[in-house]
Amino acid sequence: MLGYFITLIHAVLLCITILVLAIVVFLPILVFFLPQYTQFIFFLNFRRLPNTDYNDLASNDVKGIGRSLHLRGGGGKIGVWHVLPHKLNLEWRAEGRHPTDADFDRMMNDSDYKIILYAHGNSFDRTFYHRVEMYNLLSERNFHVICFDYRGYGDSEGTPTEKGIVADARTVYDWVREKCGKTQVIVWGHSMGTGVSCKLVQDLSIEHKAPCGLVLESPFNNLKDAVTNHPIFTVFCWMNDFMVDTIIIRPLNSVGLSMQSDKRIAKISCPIIILHAEDDKILPLKLGRALFEAARRADRDIKMREFSTDLGFGHKFICRSPELPEIIDEFVRYVSPSSSSSS
Ligand SMILES: *[C@@H]1O[C@H](CO)[C@@H](O)[C@H](O)[C@H]1NC(C)=O
Repeated sequence: MLGYFITLIHAVLLCITILVLAIVVFLPILVFFLPQYTQFIFFLNFRRLPNTDYNDLASNDVKGIGRSLHLRGGGGKIGVWHVLPHKLNLEWRAEGRHPTDADFDRMMNDSDYKIILYAHGNSFDRTFYHRVEMYNLLSERNFHVICFDYRGYGDSEGTPTEKGIVADARTVYDWVREKCGKTQVIVWGHSMGTGVSCKLVQDLSIEHKAPCGLVLESPFNNLKDAVTNHPIFTVFCWMNDFMVDTIIIRPLNSVGLSMQSDKRIAKISCPIIILHAEDDKILPLKLGRALFEAARRADRDIKMREFSTDLGFGHKFICRSPELPEIIDEFVRYVSPSSSSSS
C-alpha cells in the first residue's frame, strides 16, 4: 500500500516537472514562431470579471456623477467613461436631475475644471477597483476624468496590438479636444498605460498639439526591461541575454510590440512627472528611474516622486497616498501657473 502511494507521488511529481519544463521551454519557442498570437501574454486582456455593467458607473463604485459612452475607433466600438469634478457633482445633486449628454459636453468646455485622460494598465478593464479608486480621487480634486478601454478590453471591440491601443487612446484624446475648447488636458498613464501615453504624447508633441502635462504612474522604460524584470520571468533564467533578445524581444518587436518609452519620452514637449513606489514588484523602481534618466539626458522637463517601501503602495496603490492630492495640485500649478482657481 505504502509502496503504491510512493509510486503515485513519484508519478505526479514527474508529470508536474515535465509540465513546468514544457512551459519554460515551449513558451519562448511559441513566442519566437508566433509573436502575433502570443502578444496576448503581454496584454492580458482576456482577464475580466463576470457580470460587469459597463454602463452603470455607480455599480462599479464610481462616486461622482458620470456617463458611459462609446466612440468608434479603428478596432470598432471603444467604451469610455466620463466622471465629473466634485464641485459640478454638488451642483447637479442640488439641481436634482441627471445631466444630459449635451450638458456633459458643455461642462468639458469650462476651463475652470481641467480634464484628465486616464490610460489604464494591462489586464482587466476600466472598471477594475484600484483604477476606480484613482478616478474617485481625481474627481474629488475637481478634475474631469475620462477613462476608456483599449480594443479587446472591457466592452471595447477588437484585438489589442500596441499600434491599436495607442490609436484608441488617440481617438479618445481627439474626442476630448473636440469637445473641450480651451480647457487644459493632462494625460495620465498607469503601468502599461504609461507606454501608451508616452507614444500618444510623443506623437502629439511632434504635431505641436501636446497636452499640458503627462503623469506616468508606475512606469517602465521599454518592453525588454519590463518583461525580464517581471517576477514570472525568473523561470526563464536559463536564457542568456542574447537568447532573450533573439527568442522573445525581437520577434515581438517585429509585430510592433516594443513600448520604447525611453526613446519616445525624448520627444515629449510638455512637463512630465513620474510616480513610482520602491516596493513595486511588477515594474521595479529601477525601470521608472531608467525612464527618468532617459528624459533627463534628452533635457526634458521631468520630475520624479518615489514612495518608500514602508508605505506599501506596490504597483497599484499610489492612489492611497495621503500626499498624492498635494503632489497632483503642485504639478498642475506648475504646468498651468495662470489658472489655479479650481483647487
Ligand atoms: C466653448 O465655449 C466657447 C464660449 O462659450 C465657444 O465659443 C466655443 O465654440 C465652445 N467650444 C466648443 C468646442 O464647444
